[in-house]
Amino acid sequence: MSSHTRSKRLTVPQLVAMKGQQKIVSLTAYTRSMAELMDPFVDFVLIGDSTAMVGYGRTSTLDMSLEEIIAHTRAVVSSTRLACVIADMPFGSYQESPQQAYRNCAEVLARTGCDALKLEGGKALAGTVEFLVQRGIPVMAHIGLMPQYVNVMGGFKAQGLNDTTAEAIEEDARAHLTAGAFSLLLEGVAEPLARRISDFSAMPTIGIGASPACDGQVLVTEDILGLGGEYVPRFVKPYADVGALISQAFECFADEVRNGQFPQMQHCYGVS
Ligand code: KIV
Repeated sequence: MSSHTRSKRLTVPQLVAMKGQQKIVSLTAYTRSMAELMDPFVDFVLIGDSTAMVGYGRTSTLDMSLEEIIAHTRAVVSSTRLACVIADMPFGSYQESPQQAYRNCAEVLARTGCDALKLEGGKALAGTVEFLVQRGIPVMAHIGLMPQYVNVMGGFKAQGLNDTTAEAIEEDARAHLTAGAFSLLLEGVAEPLARRISDFSAMPTIGIGASPACDGQVLVTEDILGLGGEYVPRFVKPYADVGALISQAFECFADEVRNGQFPQMQHCYGVS
């Protein structure tokens, strides 16, 4: 279903049905303005925990609270009407046990009205994924480069670069599919591995830095708009330099105010 012909919000089963039919488009958002602007063009909006870095200027995604994800997800749900909305579960909110995961995932779903949740983790998390799916929580499983594992990986590094580690990621993928994940998000893996997983997976694979071999692509919105700050991954194509445009507008506003030129204000208050 193309976003141009859609009249209602895309559901998780409709997203799954896009596999093999058309590529899935996604971007991250955490505010009303961005969500509203991208809604007609994307299939799903992701409230990524990358918000911790791009929105709050923190150094990793680890410091994102459940309340923050809930607040941003509510903003995105109420600002969109066509795209499926998927939220990231923050670090520490689901790893302890299937019960802890269920409690927190249910709270996010209930309080935000989003459609599904994304959890990071390899096959060790598959039991939790199964527990959630069997209780009505649609799960997208994020494997490969998992930013919440930055301290284990020793940085944000591409994963699965040799046969052994690539096989381990394939096993992660199979375990999540068996557990009932409706989609696999593949981050920072090379094309041959992304292609192999996409070929055997009945569920759509969504790539970020994982080659065009995936069934869809997601990017961090700030990265494609020139708002990503110092660290923008090499695989990101800039689509606009909105940062420069905003800077110009700020400079223009500051100049006008300092020069005593602010005619709109008089007009608004009916002062002649
Ligand atoms: O948090 C995020 O934005 C993500 C994307 C990198 C996929 O998980």
